[in-house]
Amino acid sequence: MAGDNHARMNDPLRGLASEIRACMACALHRSARQAVPGEGSGESGVFFLGEAPGYNEDVQGRPFVGAAGQLLDELLAGIGLDRSKVFITNVVRHRPPENRDPLPDEVGACDVWLKRHLEILRPKVIVTLGRHAMYKFFPAESISRVHGKLRKTPEGLVIFPMFHPAAALRQPALRGALVADFATLALFLSAEPVAKAVEEEKTADQMTLFSE
Ligand code: URA
Repeated sequence: MAGDNHARMNDPLRGLASEIRACMACALHRSARQAVPGEGSGESGVFFLGEAPGYNEDVQGRPFVGAAGQLLDELLAGIGLDRSKVFITNVVRHRPPENRDPLPDEVGACDVWLKRHLEILRPKVIVTLGRHAMYKFFPAESISRVHGKLRKTPEGLVIFPMFHPAAALRQPALRGALVADFATLALFLSAEPVAKAVEEEKTADQMTLFSE
C-alpha cells in the first residue's frame, strides 16, 4: 500500500486511485500483482510521468520505489523538493511482464487515467521521464534532442522532457544531463511566480487602459 503518501492524497486523488486499482481495460492487470495508480500531491505543481511500474513498484503498489526511484528521490532532494510535494505516476499503471516496453494498446488504455490526473491536479509542469512518457506529448521527437527544454503543447500544457533515471543508472554519462535538467526545473519553478506576477500586472494595466 502507498502508506503515508497515500494517506496524504486528497479525496479526488484517492477516488481516482480506487478506480485505477479496479481497471481491467488491458491485459496487463492479469499478470501484474496490483495497479500502481501514482502518489504525491499537487503542492509544488510538478507532475512526474514515468514509463511503467517495475518489480518493486508491482510489489508495493507505489511508483518509483526501486533503484530508479532512489535516484529520483536524490535528484528531487538536490533541488530541495520533497517527494510528497510532487505527483509521480506512469504512462501505464500495471507492470508489463518481464518489464518489457508497454504496447501501444496498453498505453492507449491508460490514457484516460493520465487525463483524469491532469484534470484534478492541473500541474504547472509535466516532467516526462524517458521516451515513452515524452512520446505521449511529442511522438515524433527524440529524447536526446529535447531533454531539458520546456515546451508547450497546443493545449497549453507545459512539458519538460528528461532522461529516465533508469537510463542514467545504465549509462552513467546521462547522470550529468539529469542533474542539469533538474537544475533547470528548479530555475523554472523559482521564476514561475515572477513570470505570473508580471503577466498579472500586464493584464491589470490592460484593464486600466480599457476602463479609461
Ligand atoms: N520506472 C518507471 O518508469 N516507473 C516506475 O514507477 C519505476 C521505474
